[in-house]
Amino acid sequence: MIKDVVLPREEKGLRKPFIAGNWKMNGVGEEAEVLARQIAAQISGLPAFSDGASPVDVAICPPFTSLVGVGRAVSGSGVKLGAQDMFWRDSGAYTGRVSGPMLKAVGCQHVILGHSECRGRFGKLESDITDETIRHFGDLDATVALKLHAALRHELSPILCVGETLGEREAGNTDQVVYIQVHAALHGLGAAQLNTVTIAYEPVWAIGTGQTCEAEEANRVCAVIRGALEQLAGGEVAGNIRIQYGGSVTADNAAELLAQPAIDGALVGGQSLKADAFAKIVNAAAQS
Ligand code: PGA
Repeated sequence: MIKDVVLPREEKGLRKPFIAGNWKMNGVGEEAEVLARQIAAQISGLPAFSDGASPVDVAICPPFTSLVGVGRAVSGSGVKLGAQDMFWRDSGAYTGRVSGPMLKAVGCQHVILGHSECRGRFGKLESDITDETIRHFGDLDATVALKLHAALRHELSPILCVGETLGEREAGNTDQVVYIQVHAALHGLGAAQLNTVTIAYEPVWAIGTGQTCEAEEANRVCAVIRGALEQLAGGEVAGNIRIQYGGSVTADNAAELLAQPAIDGALVGGQSLKADAFAKIVNAAAQS
């Protein structure tokens, strides 16, 4: 199925591709562990560098309740564990929240922050909700920044999601939106902290819709994001930060997206729930 090729190390740039699977609210108990084991097994057959190192970093981000089981399932496989959100306080009277120390304690290395579904930036509400003021979870740039700082304090590597809605794109505001989101979350951080951050460019209109952003346009916006990073932290730091694309990534479109010079990986939703498809996306990253 996947060829056993040894990749020469010098073919890869400074930034190792990074594929993260965002399972969203999917994966219950044993079923989640089985899927995680399948993914780990499929990925273990992928090509490696001549020194045995993996040419691509991989993480799975299951729901909170499956973190322990999935962590156990991928243990020793090289697949990292990530959470989908966290609260910025470490403990206290915050009913329903999950903190950085809690994520660390179950083995998380990554945490997705500012996902559009948490920012309440869904294009439409659930069909049974008619009150238009209701938004999912309601993260703001300011709360995303608080969470990001808390994640760094606990040595969790954040995957910071940014991206425009369809309305913002149609109004010609895409670049401004991602610029503001990047600055709001990362302003004031030092190089050492920024080096652990990954950014996921996820146009809201492309998430879960099958309407993938054209590869060239995704590349252009990722370059805009790198420009914003350069302004914040200088060229050297900006050059080290990985920028993923997310939004209807599939085994069929991954290679074209990942071949773009400004795209360093993918944040994969629906297709990360299928071991075969996810492994193919990881393989495309390994070859990119
Ligand atoms: P999708 O989701 O791949 O199902 O579009 C991506 C995401 O929301 O991170």
